[in-house]
Amino acid sequence: HGTSRVNEKGNLEIGGCDVTQLAATYGTPLYVYDEALIRSKCRAYIDAFRQSGFAFQVAYASKAFCTMAMCKLVEEEGMSLDVVSGGELYTALQAGFPAERIHFHGNNKSIEEIHMALDAKIGCFVVDNFYELATLDEIAQERDEKVAVLLRVTPGVEAHTHEYISTGQVDSKFGFDVQNGQALEAIKYAHESKQLHLLGVHSHIGSQIFEAEGFIVAIKRLIELLEEAREQHGFISEVLNVGGGFGIRYVESDTPLTAETYIKAITDTVRDEMTQRQLPLPELWIEPGRSIVGDAGTTLYRIGSHKHIPNVRKYVAVDGGMTDNLRPALYQAVYEAAIANKMNAPATEQVSIAGKCCESGDMLIWDVMLPEADAGDILAVTSTGAYGYSMSNNYNRIARPAVVFVKEGEAELVVKRETYQDVVSHDLLPKRAQLQR
Ligand code: LLP
Repeated sequence: HGTSRVNEKGNLEIGGCDVTQLAATYGTPLYVYDEALIRSKCRAYIDAFRQSGFAFQVAYASKAFCTMAMCKLVEEEGMSLDVVSGGELYTALQAGFPAERIHFHGNNKSIEEIHMALDAKIGCFVVDNFYELATLDEIAQERDEKVAVLLRVTPGVEAHTHEYISTGQVDSKFGFDVQNGQALEAIKYAHESKQLHLLGVHSHIGSQIFEAEGFIVAIKRLIELLEEAREQHGFISEVLNVGGGFGIRYVESDTPLTAETYIKAITDTVRDEMTQRQLPLPELWIEPGRSIVGDAGTTLYRIGSHKHIPNVRKYVAVDGGMTDNLRPALYQAVYEAAIANKMNAPATEQVSIAGKCCESGDMLIWDVMLPEADAGDILAVTSTGAYGYSMSNNYNRIARPAVVFVKEGEAELVVKRETYQDVVSHDLLPKRAQLQR
């Protein structure tokens, strides 16, 4: 998919770059992003909204992959940015991302983070709970500023990959519950506050969702809430944010909808429900993360050792693992792979791909058919662009891989590989221990 193809040498090529060359130049493991594919994913959402006639904002959920280069790309595509921490906010600001297009999420923003965001003059806060509402109100008063907010509400819809569950009372750490009246109470508070400018409401029903039904049910609940808010508190919502969660294809059996289909279901539902209740059409916001970057990322590894247990399994080990992709260990996530320097060779062997961490659970892929693998081969694991780099870690003191963007035959390093010096850079030897020597 994207700009991937097999070249004359039988090697995998992405963005016009032979990945075996990338591995030689930048080392492995290496995250490779197909820049054109990221941009086309951005544009698919924007085009779908343009078709709908709604005013809109597409905010990239940076948690999926947050680097300065990615923030820059998002800026160039004219989109907004969802950040959830001071660190993500800092990354965006360092990249020169326009603050007014930043939305700040999170269920426990610190006082320092709130001040940092206000200093930067971000677009809005997505307020999660009553403590934050009161804190923000107070800080805004201290600073004599008016602060734009959305309220994150929990509509009682939980979407899973293949189904959605509609529950009476959702057990979630996030948001104001619609069912027990918290959401309406929060709307009243924010609407009446002199310091806050309540733009509207937000909901996020889950991630890696393959159907539109969960969004439709959630939107109906949100709009019922907005109808009550108008009747009881005279509040008219300018913005409706339906979150992210649009699924991608990791393996053959995954069947996501297209951006067009998700957006059409969302815009049709909002238009119908708002019109029925004679509410003015709001600006529509979404926050896709995974579906912007997931497909565009490929991780390259070098194959090393193997262990064959006759009649049981063959383990093939690579030079990365749960440190660069935590998802298989954490969620039993599944991926596909290919040997990048043997793309035309027949897949004759069933193997399981092991990471190099000292932990049995450090397995990247169970039971995948590949050509016979030799030490030194390059393994390409596809669709690792979302929540791979962003959840990478230094377990076993393994240094984080580099990240390159590829496009039209050119590769650009956008995150340098960590060094061992980087790994120990925050360590201090206790002075006391030195004295005792
Ligand atoms: N908006 C909110 C409020 C969210 O909580 C999330 C994801 C998104 C947007 C973006 O969702 P996406 O479009 O990426 O599905 N680490 C997990 C995924 C955690 C998602 C958390 N929230 C994984 O690797 O599957």
